[in-house]
Amino acid sequence: MTDNGQVFHINTRGILPSKGPVSLPEELEKRADHFIKQYPQSRSAVMPLLYIAQEHFGVITQAGVEWVAKKLSMPPVQVWEVATFYTMYYKKPVGKYHIQVCRTLPCALSGARKVSEFLYKKLGLAPGEVTKDGMWSFEEVECLGSCGTAPMCQINDVFFENLTDEKLTKILSRIEKEKPDLRFSTVRDELGAGLEGCPKSEII
Ligand code: FES
Repeated sequence: MTDNGQVFHINTRGILPSKGPVSLPEELEKRADHFIKQYPQSRSAVMPLLYIAQEHFGVITQAGVEWVAKKLSMPPVQVWEVATFYTMYYKKPVGKYHIQVCRTLPCALSGARKVSEFLYKKLGLAPGEVTKDGMWSFEEVECLGSCGTAPMCQINDVFFENLTDEKLTKILSRIEKEKPDLRFSTVRDELGAGLEGCPKSEII
C-alpha cells in the first residue's frame, strides 16, 4: 500500500523491493522541486524525476518509483508505466558501462546484428546480461534517433556511431583503460567528459 492509499501492483520481475518510506538527499529533493516548478502540472516532471531517482539508486527501484509518485501526487503504477516505456530507465541492474545497441531498421540494414554478435563474442554477453565483474552490460533497443550514422550504440549516455568491429574494439579497450565518465547527470545538468578525442556525436 502506498502513502496515497493506492495499492501498487506492478510486474515485479527485475524491480528491487522498497525498504520503506523514501526521501532523497536534500540536494536531490531541491533539484526535483526545481523541475516540478517548471511545469503547469506537476506530473509533467515525471521524466526528470525518474532520472533523479535512477541517478540516486543506480536503477529504477520500487522505492524510486514511490518517491517520484509521492512528489508528483501520482499513482505509482503510472510512474512505472513511464519507466517501462523508455529504455533509458534501467529496470534492473546494469554494468558500470551499459551498451545499448540500436536494432531498428536503418541500423539493422547497416549491420546492427554484426555489432550485437561482436559484443557477444568480445564480452561473452547476451542481451540483458551483466559481466561478472560488473563492468559491462548490453541490450538491444529501438531507434535512438541517430539513424543517419548507423549502425550505432549508446554507452551510458554517449553515442558511438558508424560502428565497425575495429572501431568497437578500440572504444571498448579505451573505456576499460581510461574509465571515462559517459553519464549525463540530471543533478549537475551536464554530460560527463566522454572519451577524449572520440566525438560525442559524429556525422560522416
Ligand atoms: S534506426 Fe538506429 S538510430 Fe534510428
